[in-house]
Amino acid sequence: MLFLHIFRLFCVFQDVLRNILDLNESVIQNEEFVCCVSGGKLFPGSVPLAHRYGGHQFGYWAGQLGDGRAHLLGEYTNRKGERWEVQLKGSGKTPYSRSGDGRAVIRSSVREFLCSEAMHFLGVPTSRALSLVVSEEPVWRDPFYNGSVIKERGAVVLRLAKSWFRISSLEILTRTGELDVLRTLLDFVIKEHFKSIATNDPDKYVVFFSRVLNETAHLIAHWMSVGFAHGVCNTDNFSLLSITFDYGPFGFMESYDPNFVPNTSDDEGRYSIGAQANVGLFNLQKLLEALKPLLTSDQLSQSLQILREYPQIYHQRFHELFKAKLGFLGNEEKDSYVIAFLLKVNISWIVFFSNCTIINSYSFFYFFYDIFNSQTVRS
Ligand SMILES: *[C@@H]1O[C@H](CO)[C@@H](O)[C@H](O)[C@H]1NC(C)=O
Ligand SMILES: *[C@@H]1O[C@H](CO)[C@@H](O)[C@H](O)[C@H]1NC(C)=O
Ligand SMILES: *[C@@H]1O[C@H](CO)[C@@H](O)[C@H](O)[C@H]1NC(C)=O
Ligand SMILES: *[C@@H]1O[C@H](CO)[C@@H](O)[C@H](O)[C@H]1NC(C)=O
Ligand SMILES: *[C@@H]1O[C@H](CO)[C@@H](O)[C@H](O)[C@H]1NC(C)=O
Repeated sequence: MLFLHIFRLFCVFQDVLRNILDLNESVIQNEEFVCCVSGGKLFPGSVPLAHRYGGHQFGYWAGQLGDGRAHLLGEYTNRKGERWEVQLKGSGKTPYSRSGDGRAVIRSSVREFLCSEAMHFLGVPTSRALSLVVSEEPVWRDPFYNGSVIKERGAVVLRLAKSWFRISSLEILTRTGELDVLRTLLDFVIKEHFKSIATNDPDKYVVFFSRVLNETAHLIAHWMSVGFAHGVCNTDNFSLLSITFDYGPFGFMESYDPNFVPNTSDDEGRYSIGAQANVGLFNLQKLLEALKPLLTSDQLSQSLQILREYPQIYHQRFHELFKAKLGFLGNEEKDSYVIAFLLKVNISWIVFFSNCTIINSYSFFYFFYDIFNSQTVRS
């Protein structure tokens, strides 16, 4: 019960509390609840786990990583029949902590907490966040990575996802040659999370690959359409189902960095569409490498063909989303030019879209004229 004195409930999202966990808000008055969401006490029936996976760092295989500061508490099936995996982040050491202390600081926890809920309400598939608790316990960190260690306060986030499995949960098993476990895990993931794939389909792993590829292309197009930069997806530990938030420098871009300009003369097989779309493809290549020992040579070539479709799926979705944003209803070739042009000029999207809400189609032309002739809207 020591935890009661050092942890304070900082914030709870009502939507998650009510509509995912079926709880009444009065529960937050309960000290035991605060204790549970900070990791001081287990929910009844919970058997905490830390997840083993690998990962790439700077494009190179970094070996086994694993949940170094996250504990999976269990699964909850709510009134609507949805199953959610409940996880704490910043809750202390695990067998995969290596030299880390298993803690998280307020900065990164607030970022994850707010960003995941913002993404949800923007309609982007994401993990969700229930609560943020802050601790008085000192956590020592070097926030600028320059040797200046400072004292910060720890925080714990309770977050939920349909699944916390990652591409690298499979990849680690292929790398270490644990092919029986690979098959068992993959069959489990398909059975639990890709219910429309028949378990007796001989091509089920190919179908699985094409589903994950499609979802990834759609997800990243969605990120790009709301100006969201993940940051850590660049280092690969990418969830199979939705965004896994991490401690990286993510946030919303106010204007598109030139590096994010999609190449509209992109042919099939080329993917210079901005860093995130590229990393999505990189991750899918890694997924395919992980699946390779379970595929026949025919299935492998089918999968390679599916991989080549990624740029096109991404582009198409991105264009659809951007067209919808701009109110282009038709399917005209000109639309693509306008979008390409808009992405090339370094305008402020906050100014752009707040102005869009107050103009009508009649003044549209003048508005465009305005935007490109005014310095104030260029960031
Ligand atoms: C929550 O619980 C309190 C006390 O038991 C009750 O008065 C209230 O109506 C409940 N609220 C909801 C939304 O069910
Ligand atoms: C994600 O990967 C990066 C580098 O590959 C690692 O530093 C980080 O701890 C990983 N995140 C989680 C939650 O495991
Ligand atoms: C590290 O960076 C921070 C912020 O720029 C600065 O305040 C601090 O003095 C730096 N420490 C060293 C040792 O350079
Ligand atoms: C691709 O994913 C999107 C988003 O989840 C979905 O709407 C669409 O039906 C999927 N397409 C295929 C061919 O599975
Ligand atoms: C787009 O791709 C083509 C073909 O690879 C290349 O020549 C061109 O420079 C690219 N454009 C941009 C803006 O990257």
